[in-house]
Amino acid sequence: MSLSIPHGGTLVNRWNPEYPLHHLKKEIELSNAEVSDLELIGTGAYSPLIGFLGKEDYEAVVETMRLADGTVWSIPITLAVSEDKAKTLSVGDVAKLVHNGDVYGIIEIQEIYVPDKQKEALLVYKTDDWNHPGVKKLFEKPNVYVGGPITLIKRTNKGKFASFYFDPVETRRRFIELGWSTVVGFQTRNPVHRAHEYIQKCALEIVDGLFLNPLVGETKDDDIPADIRMESYQVLLENYYPKDRVFLGVFQAAMRYAGPREAIFHAMVRKNFGCTHFIVGRDHAGVGNYYGTYDAQKIFLNFTLEELGITPLFFEHSFYCTKCEGMASTKTCPHAREYHVVLSGTKVREMLRNGQVPPSTFSRPEVVQVLIQGLKERETVSHFAR
Ligand code: ADX
Repeated sequence: MSLSIPHGGTLVNRWNPEYPLHHLKKEIELSNAEVSDLELIGTGAYSPLIGFLGKEDYEAVVETMRLADGTVWSIPITLAVSEDKAKTLSVGDVAKLVHNGDVYGIIEIQEIYVPDKQKEALLVYKTDDWNHPGVKKLFEKPNVYVGGPITLIKRTNKGKFASFYFDPVETRRRFIELGWSTVVGFQTRNPVHRAHEYIQKCALEIVDGLFLNPLVGETKDDDIPADIRMESYQVLLENYYPKDRVFLGVFQAAMRYAGPREAIFHAMVRKNFGCTHFIVGRDHAGVGNYYGTYDAQKIFLNFTLEELGITPLFFEHSFYCTKCEGMASTKTCPHAREYHVVLSGTKVREMLRNGQVPPSTFSRPEVVQVLIQGLKERETVSHFAR
């Protein structure tokens, strides 16, 4: 076995810090999520994309979960501008891509089009409910999309995450240096609790290495902030994982909360980082009750293993069982629910924010300590900032 082949065959590289900018007059302001997407396109994490989607690809992705050429792609990666801004742009223009006063890249504008956002919401998110955080963001975006190839010119400041940030070429090199030929990718936007640890370690029993790849881009307000989570991952790895079998690196994309569709997208990106396997557990990338518990697993049936190019590893709902006296899942434990330690994400976040300690059968005490402390400090800072 060897590391996965990048999606579409080759790793895209659109990074050119020398790109001449002086002659460019037009510019487009990017949102936080769009800057992340720009960098992820430029570094090949979104291979085979070389830019923000044009109309044909956009419609194909929304309707068929594939690009116009048939390549699997489930989430539209788009650049939105207002109607007024769109009037100042023309096909054939090269526009600077700007964020907070800095130029991060350019786009060669090939298309300017009005998307059917209602359709995008219903097909990608399976709902047009504004209470869904991904749908809300979609509807709040400006109404015109601009498509075309990009060049990445400036890298974003990774701040506290700098030492955990790796481009796909780097993760691939590291995996090879570690002697791994099979690597399982793990997406998370949460602290790693016992259930996460259990499914990661089950996977580790059959592959060489684990790429713990927490998402640190935009998440909804009540999710645990990424910097606090990063600390909790380190303390967990330090105490409970073999050092030579885990690699921690951040994923800078924004969370879409698109459940099943996002699971496919998450898998394709991890394939680009070199993973051969990808974990999909219960309600992957879900929010509220918009998706069925295993919809994010079932969606993989739409594709052949060959076209996915990465092997999904599916896990059932996992928990600590007080009768089994160990971690288990609905697949391995015969006992009734009352013996299972199950807490909802909302409940756990509420406990942590109130300084309450969830049981050690739910989360490692070292992890809980970091989370409670981190949230307390955050609360103090925001109190003084008021
Ligand atoms: S996600 O939005 O990034 O998917 P989360 O960080 O909670 O959320 O989940 C990370 C991965 O662990 C996902 O694949 C999810 O399906 C899986 N997962 C989370 N909790 C459990 C659980 N109790 N049992 C099985 N899988 C789980």
